[in-house]
Amino acid sequence: MAAEFADRVVLVAGGTGGLGTAVTLAFLKAGAVTCITAREGEALEGLRRDAGEAAGRLQARQVDVTDEAATAEYVREIMARHQRLDVLVNTVGGYRGGRSLWQAEAGEYEQMLALNLRSGYVLARAAAPVMRARGQGVIVNVASRAAIEPGPGAAMYAASKAAALALMQSLAAELHGNGVRVNSVLPSMIDTPANRKAMPGSDFSQWAQPADIARVILFLCSDDARLVHGAAIPV
Ligand SMILES: NC(=O)c1ccc[n+]([C@@H]2O[C@H](COP(=O)([O-])OP(=O)(O)OC[C@H]3O[C@@H](n4cnc5c(N)ncnc54)[C@H](OP(=O)(O)O)[C@@H]3O)[C@@H](O)[C@H]2O)c1
Repeated sequence: MAAEFADRVVLVAGGTGGLGTAVTLAFLKAGAVTCITAREGEALEGLRRDAGEAAGRLQARQVDVTDEAATAEYVREIMARHQRLDVLVNTVGGYRGGRSLWQAEAGEYEQMLALNLRSGYVLARAAAPVMRARGQGVIVNVASRAAIEPGPGAAMYAASKAAALALMQSLAAELHGNGVRVNSVLPSMIDTPANRKAMPGSDFSQWAQPADIARVILFLCSDDARLVHGAAIPV
């Protein structure tokens, strides 16, 4: 995979998150100019260190991807600088749960929809037109297994991820034949520092490694996956 993305420009939303970091590093390693949204300075510094020489191809900006104007502005900036956007990967999302629907805290409904649905909506509205205009591009949205297997205790999380999945599948249908592919990945538990902290007694060896999920995402963004469109891939 060494230089597979050598001439490509990639946008990773949530590029300093648990999964986003692995996706960003994988794209940098594969030669891409990798533009990320990053809100946390310390995490960004760590990412730059881990990227080594490839850090020269890492561009970061603090953007709230639920803010339509700010996100569109970032995409315009990327286009002005690089004249292309080949890939959008949305790793922004969040989890709140642990209680029944009738016991859920105030604000959970709005927060889950904002993080898990609106993020992908805003990013796709900014990126899809520029990809469509060039007749090529790939969008990958990170949803969750809960989108297709909703369980107890996280109704709004599951509902927001199911809505995100439906949104991407509709978008895929809209872009069919335009050279732009759209897919979702549906992770189960990921081995991130936040999850280890939240569930210290768990068997971490059962959890998916961020780097392994990143590999699946890079495959979906590669030319080898040119026939994969409108899919929802459990990982
Ligand atoms: N972790 C799991 O076990 C698991 C399982 C299934 C699915 N998923 C999904 O996989 C994706 C990645 O999960 P993760 O564990 O890597 O999450 P994470 O570590 O919380 O990373 C999410 C990233 O998104 C950023 N972000 C949050 N709100 C944002 C906003 N409004 N604008 C811009 N950036 C924003 C966060 O930045 P800040 O730190 O600044 O908020 C963080 O860098 C999410 O969609 C998640 O729902 C995760």
